Amino acid sequence: MRYKIDYEKRIKELLEQENKQYTYYIETMGCALNENDSMKYAGILEKMGFTKANEIEKANVVLFNTCCIRENAEDKLFGRVGYLKTRKKQNKDMYIAIVGCMTEQGHILDKIRKSYSYVDVVLGTKSMQFFAEKLYLAIKNHKKTQEVQDNEHEIVEDVPIRYEEGYKASISIIYGCNNFCSYCIVPYVRGRERSRLPEDILNDVKTVASKGYKEITLLGQNVNSYGNDFKDNKYTFVDLLTEIEKVEGIEVIRFISPHPKDFTDALIDKIASSDKIAKQIHLPLQSGSTRILESMNRKYTKEHFLTLVEKMKERIPNVSFSTDIIVGFPGETEEDFLDTMDVVEKVKFSLVYMFCYSIRKGTRAERMENQIEESVKVERLQRLKALFEKLVLEDNEKKIGTVHKILVEGLSKNNDKMYTGRTIDNKIVVFEAEEKDIGTVKNVEIVENNKWYLTGKIV
Ligand code: SAH
Ligand code: SF4
Ligand code: F3S
Repeated sequence: MRYKIDYEKRIKELLEQENKQYTYYIETMGCALNENDSMKYAGILEKMGFTKANEIEKANVVLFNTCCIRENAEDKLFGRVGYLKTRKKQNKDMYIAIVGCMTEQGHILDKIRKSYSYVDVVLGTKSMQFFAEKLYLAIKNHKKTQEVQDNEHEIVEDVPIRYEEGYKASISIIYGCNNFCSYCIVPYVRGRERSRLPEDILNDVKTVASKGYKEITLLGQNVNSYGNDFKDNKYTFVDLLTEIEKVEGIEVIRFISPHPKDFTDALIDKIASSDKIAKQIHLPLQSGSTRILESMNRKYTKEHFLTLVEKMKERIPNVSFSTDIIVGFPGETEEDFLDTMDVVEKVKFSLVYMFCYSIRKGTRAERMENQIEESVKVERLQRLKALFEKLVLEDNEKKIGTVHKILVEGLSKNNDKMYTGRTIDNKIVVFEAEEKDIGTVKNVEIVENNKWYLTGKIV
């Protein structure tokens, strides 16, 4: 279905009649897909004539885009919503919306209805197209929407998007997930896989290219199952990459996340032969133990993962990997954990996102026996972190004295004379440069190892 700008206009007219100027504030939790959805909500709100507020307290519409991948997010959300209660009482022109993954969990809706009834709009992950209408009803008639509809089969195109400033843009290519990893809530809250049509994606790519964006990140819970749900053709993720590469102006293409089980030789060859696809691959390991991987329903073994990495290292010069790892999955023994440590040691990831296993209601792992003590999870997480830091330091040391071609990305956060960029394997390098250098490529020699970043100098 194509998105229709309608209620946006009505809200704009309504506010103009009353001579009101509204602002909005979006708080986003969770992954890049949620960030991307928030860009769309921002686009929709700007069509209503709203401007972005810098502080939550000053906004007329506060939108929480929520995540429920792990446990802690719930307290955080309701803390924030609770904080706004008295402000909302004082300010008749304040509206609160809660959208995103968490709203798809039944108990959350109950909790909102019971204890946070002042929330104006609640919408699920497939209902963005109704946001403007529901907000209109809230503003005009004080009518609240606290329900979650299921519009699973619908893909909504032409939603207005407010891209972030800079030269990087993200584009969703596939929604939902069919994998049902046993620990994961995503398939329950995001529904089944739905691939956007190639022409709609390419239109977005061309749009961002024409706006001057140089780098795009293609998003999906499993990008390499892109196209599997197309009935009548054999269009694949590799075909999509091939077409995107041809779009003029786009210089770097990234994607998150691919699933190791679907990483085909064709995809490896595509990355190897492309001068636009980044050689930095996010390859989620989750566990290094074949036994645990099976129980997680990941559909690959330790050996398969290592062979895949070896194959990519052989075929793709300068390839580097980042990953996600869960420690303390039900039944994980010391031996299983050591398998994870072993893979980390062997692959030498440039970045590891590490998580303690968090029980999610309704998933298969919730019902597994042998849940691991919290203290054991934390201890394993610390050991994994220590190993990773040791490996990072060793790798950094090897880089001292070497020269890298680095795109000057922008000013460093902590020092207004220093600028940042990344090595080809995605290490942050900080070096002295000038504002006019932003967006150009410089030869930078690495001079100092600071663990999470390197210091360099332009040569
Ligand atoms: N689709 C992506 C992951 C999305 S969720 C993929 O398959 O890689 C991001 C990460 O959160 C996952 O990779 C996993 O490491 C972590 N995660 C998911 N469910 C979790 C849970 N129940 N407990 C702890 N970490 C979890
Ligand atoms: Fe969750 Fe697995 Fe789907 Fe990733 S692939 S979103 S971890 S079920
Ligand atoms: Fe969280 Fe939903 Fe992403 S649960 S990780 S925001 S898909």
